[in-house]
Amino acid sequence: MRKSLILLGILAIACAPKGPSAIPADKAVEAKVEKVLKGMTLEEKAGQLVQLNISVLEDETREALDPAKLELILGRYKVGSILNVMHDRAHSREETAAMVRKIQEVSMDLIGIPCIYGLDMIHGATYLTDGSFYPQEINLGATFNREYARLLGRAMAYETRAAQVPWVFSPVMDLGRDPRWPRIWESFGEDPYLQAEMAREETVAIQGPDPNHIDLEHAAVSLKHFMGYGVPVSGKDRTPAIIAENDLREKFFAPFLECFRAGALTAMVNSASINGVPTHANAILLSGWVKEQLGWDGLLVTDWADIDNLYVRDHVAADKKEAVAMGINAGIDMIMDPYDPSCSTAIVELVKEGRIPISRLNDAVRRVLRLKARLGLFDKPVWDYAYPEFGCEKFAQESYAAALESEVLLKNDGVLPLAPGARILVCGPNANSLRTLNGGWSYTWQGNADAFVPQYNTIVEALERRFPGRVTWVPGVVYDDSNWQLDIVASFQQVKNVAKNVDVVICCVGENSYCETPGNMDDLNLSANQKQLVREVASCGKPMVLVLNEGRPRLIGDIEPLANAVVDVMLPSNFGGDALAALLSGDENFSGKLPFTYSKHINALHTYDYKVSEHRSTMDGSYNYDAVMDIQWPFGFGLSYTTFEYSNLDVSEASFVPGDVLEVTVDVTNTGSRAGKEAVLLYSSDLVASLIPDVKRLRGFEKISLEPGETKTVCFELPASALAFVGADGKWRLEEGDFRLSCGGQSAMLRCMSTKVWETPNI
Ligand code: BGC
Repeated sequence: MRKSLILLGILAIACAPKGPSAIPADKAVEAKVEKVLKGMTLEEKAGQLVQLNISVLEDETREALDPAKLELILGRYKVGSILNVMHDRAHSREETAAMVRKIQEVSMDLIGIPCIYGLDMIHGATYLTDGSFYPQEINLGATFNREYARLLGRAMAYETRAAQVPWVFSPVMDLGRDPRWPRIWESFGEDPYLQAEMAREETVAIQGPDPNHIDLEHAAVSLKHFMGYGVPVSGKDRTPAIIAENDLREKFFAPFLECFRAGALTAMVNSASINGVPTHANAILLSGWVKEQLGWDGLLVTDWADIDNLYVRDHVAADKKEAVAMGINAGIDMIMDPYDPSCSTAIVELVKEGRIPISRLNDAVRRVLRLKARLGLFDKPVWDYAYPEFGCEKFAQESYAAALESEVLLKNDGVLPLAPGARILVCGPNANSLRTLNGGWSYTWQGNADAFVPQYNTIVEALERRFPGRVTWVPGVVYDDSNWQLDIVASFQQVKNVAKNVDVVICCVGENSYCETPGNMDDLNLSANQKQLVREVASCGKPMVLVLNEGRPRLIGDIEPLANAVVDVMLPSNFGGDALAALLSGDENFSGKLPFTYSKHINALHTYDYKVSEHRSTMDGSYNYDAVMDIQWPFGFGLSYTTFEYSNLDVSEASFVPGDVLEVTVDVTNTGSRAGKEAVLLYSSDLVASLIPDVKRLRGFEKISLEPGETKTVCFELPASALAFVGADGKWRLEEGDFRLSCGGQSAMLRCMSTKVWETPNI
């Protein structure tokens, strides 16, 4: 069975049409690669395919490199790449740079080939104590503003490079379509178009303009996790997904395709499996869809120990050696085998035994060397370069601006902005924590910002600064930091005592930080203690602002009616408290919109692009479907202190053919009395199609600023092909018939006059 799956992969590759190369080959780069490859022994080649965790080089203090281990790992095993941080925590730029310099010195001395160091820089310089953070990607999705993806990418690359590290494992671009999955906050939300646009901008900002010659202010990306990682059937991390073939190409592949086309140099593979095939053994996806069909010459790296998982967890290989062969033959170019250098020995044996063709080995090695050459590492394994902007005020301001545009006002009966002079009670376990504002991948893997950057303001500190002398803080419920899921009632009575003497209560609830599999849980509802806190506050009869600080939309359907206003700040990072204070006070205006559907019921977890057939209440006769989309707040929802009116939605052609490019315009007017920003979202609906159509799909977005009374015309260029879908035969198709475009309550009908089916896999 296993063998037939792989054979199928190879057949698919052979038949696949060849696409244009994603990155034009550079003569000098290729010549360098060939020259180095020619002089390499089999052992050296095998070593280049291995990436180990830095812990294999640490001495007993865990703060310094052990010379004997350096000799062993680089000298004997000839390992080509190292990842992660010493002692599992962030270090300063200087400390990190010194460590990488040492590794490079030994690598050049013993192998003559530079090592490539990679780091998980997720929302900025995750692992540099003195670097900069931006809000997590889920917040950037909520800004619907491409500029913030660019700013994050630029700063992240610059600061990482300043620490002598040329490779970041970013952007994260898993579609967050199931709120049970613990990693949805790492990427830009549930929609493929939003994800593709933001991830492409981040990719280009990280790598700079020329992927063949990455300069000293830029780094290589690793798109992750390729692909379909975010929708495990169980909702638990790294467990199997079942994804319809058409959805796989149309929704899950689309963001990756966008980034491959934009020059992404590497991608990390989905740790789990799709339709029964572990992604690390999926030749159809790895070699077929990416390398063959796109002509992509970049590098595919495994995720953490995932070759081992082929036999330990997934049982598709009998032992490690078989797993290594399976992965490499499927298209893996570098094995992240964190603690086991013997992986390179297995590769040598497998090549000698003919179980890995020498051509595949050489192809993989070329891809590793090409990456190193494109990064200029052969010429400069380390570099002396001034980085005057490292940790600068400009990055801090950008982070604050992004936080302002990302916090989403979901409900407001008029209690916000807070009345001047109001006395405020702040409560809840998220009120005084930088850890919760930042989430995971913040100085440590699981997130521990309070221990590293006490200088930033928590929510309560920011409110105290904004409303001096008027804020009282009583937590009510506190987290037990030993387990992110645990919280403890401190005292409800204290909260109620203070509530009597204030004008408004700001109740900050949500989640403590977590990352990856440890973030698995069994109940998406907000914790019982926190819900009770909200009820206790409500019983005092004072207006309540509910602040949600969480990595995923925890269910609050039963307590939401008790709040006068609700703000979801998600994970806005170090300036998120300051941004919230400015927004609640009315100094600034809200403009964030949800990049995911906020569900209401545990048995009704939906995405906005559900099938039309999923929303149907009754039919003639007695059958009651009772399948109504009853959600808390929809994708794209977010309020402001001002109001916007949409008018004159207009499409250049009422009828079109597949090759056309449509121009769609809409007028947006600020009809309120305050300046504001508005994310203008354009959707399409295919009214009749050969597969049950999605009810609507996002096709464009623009963020605009409007003064009171001002009108702007927003123009979208919409290629007709953007309205195509992948049919039951796996081919892209645009079918004759009616479509509806909608934007801000306006809609326009248009008609496609002929059907087109694309014979190429991608359009
Ligand atoms: C995660 C990746 C990460 C890698 C290296 C894995 O556990 O899934 O996102 O890049 O570890 O730290």
